[in-house]
Amino acid sequence: MEIVRTVAELRARLARESAVSCVPTMGNIHDGHLRLVDLAGGQAPFVVTTIFVNRLQFGQGEDFDRYPRTFEDDCRKLEGAGCKLVFHPDEGEMYPEPQVFAVDPPPVANKLEGRFRPGHFRGVATVVLKLINIVQPQIAVFGKKDYQQIHIVRHMVDQLALPVRIVAAETFRADDGLALSSRNRYLTDAERAEAPRLHQALSQVRVAVEGGDRNFEALEFAADALLARHGWHVDYVVVRSRRTLMQPEADERDLVVLGAARLGNTRLIDNLEISAP
Ligand code: PAF
Repeated sequence: MEIVRTVAELRARLARESAVSCVPTMGNIHDGHLRLVDLAGGQAPFVVTTIFVNRLQFGQGEDFDRYPRTFEDDCRKLEGAGCKLVFHPDEGEMYPEPQVFAVDPPPVANKLEGRFRPGHFRGVATVVLKLINIVQPQIAVFGKKDYQQIHIVRHMVDQLALPVRIVAAETFRADDGLALSSRNRYLTDAERAEAPRLHQALSQVRVAVEGGDRNFEALEFAADALLARHGWHVDYVVVRSRRTLMQPEADERDLVVLGAARLGNTRLIDNLEISAP
């Protein structure tokens, strides 16, 4: 597996490849990422994984400085999964001067995660656009765990006519249901044991809605209360339209329940797609 750190070297190297897929990451690679690599390889065999902790998408007081940086370990795992090249620019390479041009995402970026992390999706969209321009892949793969992220990225790709196909991968979970995430490593043992409850609370909403209950507010409230009873600080648990991520229309069937909550110092997010009857 090759490791490339500059845009110029990457461009020169990729000029020889005709079918490139890209898995953008911030590193701290876990099995969820390896699934993305596998999926990417099935679509376009030369898989480029990007590892870059993007300062632009972190707010004041968020975990940019302590975000786990485990490059050597990441490379070992990625190589084992069939990744062909890791692009690992430093900040000076990605942002040689302050990034004053940015993607201005639509209002949906200020809801849900955006409400609690102002500016987050502006930072995500800007770096994703830049990475797509640098790598110029045919395919880019993102995990559904970051549901709003993939929604915004797809919309950006459509509206800006970017020549890339976005592929969404199912969330990869531990046996107890916890969605894999780099931030899980912040959890203490006791918190790790409690963490699957977020998935359980969302599952409870899904079962009810799939059973015909459309009283979303009551279901959201019950999920919120369940988590709060077990020591979580809930930012939101909401049922949304999969198409718009806004409140579902009365007859809308393709839904998703999204949740974000804090356990101690760790903020976890998760979601489940729902097919209402
Ligand atoms: O999902 C992530 O890890 C990041 O938001 C991404 C897409 C790599 C952009 O920095």
